Amino acid sequence: MTEKILQVEQINKYFGKFHALKDVSFDIHAGEVFGFLGPNGAGKSTMIRTMLGMLTADSGKVELSGINMLAQPVITHRRIAYVPGDVYLWPSLTGGEIIDLLLRMGGHEHTAKTDELIAKFELDPTKKARTYSKGNRQKVALIAAFSADVDLYIFDEPTSGLDPLQELNFQEEVMSLKVAGKAVLLSSHILAEVEKVMDRLAIIRQGKIIEMGNLKDLQSIASLKVEARVQKDAQALATLSGVLNFEQKNDTIRFSVQHQDLSAVTAELAKYGLIDLKVAMPTLEELFMAYYRDESEEEHAK
Ligand SMILES: Nc1ncnc2c1ncn2[C@@H]1O[C@H](COP(=O)(O)OP(=O)(O)OP(=O)(O)O)[C@@H](O)[C@H]1O
Ligand SMILES: [Mg+2]
Repeated sequence: MTEKILQVEQINKYFGKFHALKDVSFDIHAGEVFGFLGPNGAGKSTMIRTMLGMLTADSGKVELSGINMLAQPVITHRRIAYVPGDVYLWPSLTGGEIIDLLLRMGGHEHTAKTDELIAKFELDPTKKARTYSKGNRQKVALIAAFSADVDLYIFDEPTSGLDPLQELNFQEEVMSLKVAGKAVLLSSHILAEVEKVMDRLAIIRQGKIIEMGNLKDLQSIASLKVEARVQKDAQALATLSGVLNFEQKNDTIRFSVQHQDLSAVTAELAKYGLIDLKVAMPTLEELFMAYYRDESEEEHAK
């Protein structure tokens, strides 16, 4: 097992009476990219700000390589690079000046890597920040973060302002951090933004982590989608254990089924004059839509 870089334990955060983070726990190892996914307002940015001490935790623990981050922000912050979702830049400084300022504030230097990144992300560093588009402001913060040599990199909605080419550059840089044994936290409400680079993920909803694991784990707990053609009326299948959303149109039936019930259900299918059978895993997109949709249904039910 690789070295544990970040350990978050049982973090709770209230805004007045509103319980924004509920016993949030997770960890990130060296060489691991951890995705933090959830719908708007789930608590992703609040978790990051609480971890960094920008908001005060009501209870819980955050450690960076065993050092208490909430009690020792000065030491630990030097070992972290953070790019917020809403990047603020000093309007009258140039992009280049801001990159150097951000680096110095973190105790880092402008290196050949910094110049490489400026060229790679196609940023004109001589322009004043007030003239930058959203994407360019984001690039300034990303370049400063990627050129810092630290243990943990935190990106909150990192590519929301970037065009597809720059998004690829971002993914490439994250992959090289991973190869270099760094720990990376990527927060997003869009699966596609993090899917290609992450090793493990947590899904957060209403301040609580509801699932955690790698993508394969999440897919295997989801139900399978079955489509079949049969010669007889198969309505009775709807009552079998594990069968959900059953529908039959002419000779075609569709339903979802849990993994553990699949073999019993397919055995039963044979009784209806099976002509054709397709079983598919849900796509990741479908999986996430299901998690997000549950939430909006609960909200409507309130
Ligand atoms: N300073 C604050 N005071 C009161 N409530 C807050 C504050 N900051 C955040 N919240 C609330 O906490 C919840 C979580 O917000 P947060 O910004 O962490 O969500 P998020 O997961 O980052 O969402 P998004 O994907 O939109 O960035 C929301 O209900 C939000 O309204
Ligand atoms: Mg956010």
